[in-house]
Amino acid sequence: MIQVHTYESYEELSKHAAKIVSDQIRIKPDSVLGLATGSSPVGLYRELIRMHQEDGLDFANVTSFNLDEYLGLDPKHAQSYRTFMNQNLFNHINIEIAKTHVPSGIADDIAAMALSYEQAIRDAGGIDLQILGIGSDGHIAFNEPGSDLDSRTRVVDLEEQTISDNARFFESIDDVPRQAITMGVGTILEAREIILVANGEGKSAAVSDAVQGDVSTQCTASALQNHAKTTFILDKAAAAGLNI
Ligand code: F6R
Repeated sequence: MIQVHTYESYEELSKHAAKIVSDQIRIKPDSVLGLATGSSPVGLYRELIRMHQEDGLDFANVTSFNLDEYLGLDPKHAQSYRTFMNQNLFNHINIEIAKTHVPSGIADDIAAMALSYEQAIRDAGGIDLQILGIGSDGHIAFNEPGSDLDSRTRVVDLEEQTISDNARFFESIDDVPRQAITMGVGTILEAREIILVANGEGKSAAVSDAVQGDVSTQCTASALQNHAKTTFILDKAAAAGLNI
């Protein structure tokens, strides 16, 4: 059963999500966080930066693992998820960059990289708190419709809808990579706690499918119904399709 918390605005949902993350870090300073990119968590990251700068929230012992990376993009590329994380969070807090992990989109042997990424998560003790967004097609990480609900870290083809949703970050839609490396649904479900942030009416159908639809590979976020501790943190527009 997915818990749902709904807020008036994006600012409020971001603050609430940041409070959950900061409580986790204060209770366990060496927490292992799972992190997402995209627009949805930017407000949450902004609030974490404020908490670090103004309230002394300490990331010195935190380890992080990101969900995904575009295949073929160098970490230094302006649109890589590594660059996104550095710019939107890591450069502004005291996390050790060596303890931040983003899958490599340019490894010579991507399959071996995927296995070692999973091993690194296990070696770190598993993910304490995973932050997710949701795609308008119901994806979590880049687990597009049709992905197995026990899938692991691997290379995937992006759906046309995801490519067009993400084209806003690139000069042209032709520049959006067609493939990515992503943690699997099974990898994500092993996190001890999961929060999913979503805002805007463009997410309302995916949110209601995930929370109230059948558990199905057609909406990989629906697999979260089988997770012991998952909370969706929404604004009113993203929650509009729910019968609550
Ligand atoms: C990003 C990720 C994706 C996004 C989703 C929503 O690391 O894994 O699943 O969370 O595509 O993206 P935004 O937040 O940009 O709408």
